[in-house]
This record gives sequence, C-alpha cells and structure tokens, in this order.
Amino acid sequence: MNYLSPSILAADFLNLERDVSACVKNGAQYIHIDVMDGLFVPNISVGFPIIKSLRQRFDCVFDVHLMISRPERYIERFASSGSDIITFHVESTDNAGDVIDIIHSCSKKAGISVKPGTDITKIEKHLNNVDMVLVMTVEPGFGGQKFMPDMVDKIKWLKNYRQQHGLAFDIEADGGITFENTELILNAGANVIVAGTAVFEKGMTADNTKSFIKILNR
Ligand code: DX5
Ligand code: ZN
Repeated sequence: MNYLSPSILAADFLNLERDVSACVKNGAQYIHIDVMDGLFVPNISVGFPIIKSLRQRFDCVFDVHLMISRPERYIERFASSGSDIITFHVESTDNAGDVIDIIHSCSKKAGISVKPGTDITKIEKHLNNVDMVLVMTVEPGFGGQKFMPDMVDKIKWLKNYRQQHGLAFDIEADGGITFENTELILNAGANVIVAGTAVFEKGMTADNTKSFIKILNR
C-alpha cells in the first residue's frame, strides 16, 4: 500500500488546522512532521506543542521525522505527544540500536533515516528491527529543494535487501518530490511519499493532495 505523507513544514502555520484538514479530507493517510533542533541541521522548526495540538484535532498517522542530535533524550516525549511513527537519523546518535529499542518500548513504530551522503549499508544491521527506512532525497534542513536522482539507487537497494531477507519495512522518500518524479520513486520501491512544497504550494492543498493520491493509487 502506498501512503502520502504531506510535510507541514510547507504549510501555512497561521492556518495549520485548515491545511492539514485539506490533506486528510482528500486522502492523505499520514502527516509528516519535521522536527529540527538547529544542531543536527542548520534550521529550527516545530516540537511537542504543535504535535500535541494537532493530535487533539486529527486521528491520522503522525509520521514524525526527527532531525535532532542524540534523539534518545526525547523519544518518550515525542511518543506521549502523539507521534505514531518516530524516525531518527543514523548520523545523529552513537546508539541507533538503543534508539530503536526506546521507540518500540513506547509502542511506536521506529524509522531510521540516512542523509544523502551516508552509505545505505550503514543501517544494514538495523534493518531487521525497524518498521520504516526514510531515504533523504535532499539534504535535511529545508523544504523546497531539488530532488537528488542518485538517491533512487538507495531505494532500489532497500527493496532488494528487504526481499532477500524476508523483511517488511516500509520505504519512505523525502525531499523535492513532485507530481513528475513520484512514479519513478514508487517504481524504485518506495511506498511512503513525503511532499511539502508540492502539496501546500499556491493555496491548492486539496487539489494537490488529490493529484498525488491519484498517482499513488495508479
Ligand atoms: C527536509 C524535510 C522534508 C521537507 C520536504 O529536511 O525532511 O520533509 O520538508 O519538503 P519538500 O517537499 O518541499 O522538499
Ligand atoms: Zn522530513
């Protein structure tokens, strides 16, 4: 099954409820929440209060992407704030295995992510223990960047590895995704598609969401 995970980083924060609602009503199953700490990436975004507020209003899956240093310090709080899937970066911690265990001990799904410059084999030993792998298709930190086509090989590698080892993790792609490149990404093996700019741009969130869902259901 394919899922659309609109990244609220590109939403209108003055009208966050309206924008998320337009996504959910038009078929988005997930909402992607980018958390940045100004250390792991050179930008600061949102944290617990936004997740808690959205949780009061929405039942959909909250796909929380942590771009923070030493995420092990905050997993419990992201879990209790209303996250469903908690994804962290392998580059952000010395103890990726421990982070996965903490996420699972909170009864949440664990995702692991790699920056564009990180070899995908760096996460190999964790693949039998995660629920999702997030392949960054731009440098983490900012929305609105250009898709890096070379990252498609990582998606293909993951799909192949999953099949060879009888595993079942989801493969998520994040960054620079548009109507034009979605099919290529799906064909490579990703089934969770993050899109920020392409969903929320031009105040056409409802129509954009519908168009993505059509591509995902093809
Ligand atoms: C970048 C974030 C992405 C980003 C996606 O660090 O992880 O989720 O907001 O935005 P677009 O779709 O605009 O590249
Ligand atoms: Zn993200």
